[in-house]
Amino acid sequence: MNNIAVLTSGGDAPGMNAAIRAVVRTAIYNKIAVWGVYRGFQGLIDNDIISLQSRDVSNIIQRGGTFLKSARCKDFMTKEGRAIAFQNLKERNIDALVVIGGNGTFTGALTFEKEWKMPCIGIPGTIDNDLFGTDYSIGFDTAINTAMQAIDKIRDTASAHNRLFFIEVMGRDAGFLALKSSIASGAEGVLIPEVKTHLEELHLYLENSFKEKKSSGIIVVAEGDEEGGAYEIARKVRSDFEDYDVRVSVIGHMQRGGSPSALDRINASLMGTEAVNALLNGHSLAMVGIQNGQAQIVPFEEAINHKKSINNQLYDLLTVLNA
Ligand code: F6P
Repeated sequence: MNNIAVLTSGGDAPGMNAAIRAVVRTAIYNKIAVWGVYRGFQGLIDNDIISLQSRDVSNIIQRGGTFLKSARCKDFMTKEGRAIAFQNLKERNIDALVVIGGNGTFTGALTFEKEWKMPCIGIPGTIDNDLFGTDYSIGFDTAINTAMQAIDKIRDTASAHNRLFFIEVMGRDAGFLALKSSIASGAEGVLIPEVKTHLEELHLYLENSFKEKKSSGIIVVAEGDEEGGAYEIARKVRSDFEDYDVRVSVIGHMQRGGSPSALDRINASLMGTEAVNALLNGHSLAMVGIQNGQAQIVPFEEAINHKKSINNQLYDLLTVLNA
């Protein structure tokens, strides 16, 4: 293997730069030339590919976003788009591809490798942390901390005004970010897609426990909850509790930004290095995940198709702490 390319695709996540840095430097350490692809799969199709040297990734480990930029690329879903992408890689004699992203990114890489025999290795990068086979994906830890800090601030004003807040956090159709940020911020409740939301239970809680003991409160709502986002839940509850001063806050894209936490930088560095090692050892069609602090190779098919479970102990904990 003499040439590899690296790209970031899908929703960006803090720590992606640290992963790119590790890929570039590990490749160079092993005397492999590295290419950076701008805007994910779109850059492969548009031939927006540059040669990367060790110094090109200096001073980026602490930066959020991705200096290679990212995109959700529709053209790569077509056979024609993938054929152009392959030609552009072959022009530079690129032998393998490291893709940093989530579910959609790995689905694209899986199809590409099967179709064109271009070895692909994935690194999980998504604040949603919804990929099976890895305890952490890049950006998740930073996003929990960002959400927690935002909720802490809302807590101040909720308490000052005796208000009940419904706060919506990201996660697409998964509740990992909602669950952890709700525990970290001492929220009174959490609604996540993995646990059936019984609005009657929420009513009961607000009626009994909450009304009796608390003057203000915070319910964290995962954006993918089956009953709807925070605005929808608030609307459903508001009419029955007219004496509550209800407010809604959607934290939004600030959860995707900011300087990555130490954990995200370390995990991203480990996975970046192990992704290159995996290619050198003949692995492909797989992601490098982290299980119990160790890098592990997980086939794309498993990472994409198996459903990751939430930690029930953590979910129960929230209930106990608010009983
Ligand atoms: O997958 C990461 C994520 O931030 C999700 O949590 C969210 O649902 C989605 O991306 C938002 O995507 P976009 O930035 O394209 O609006």
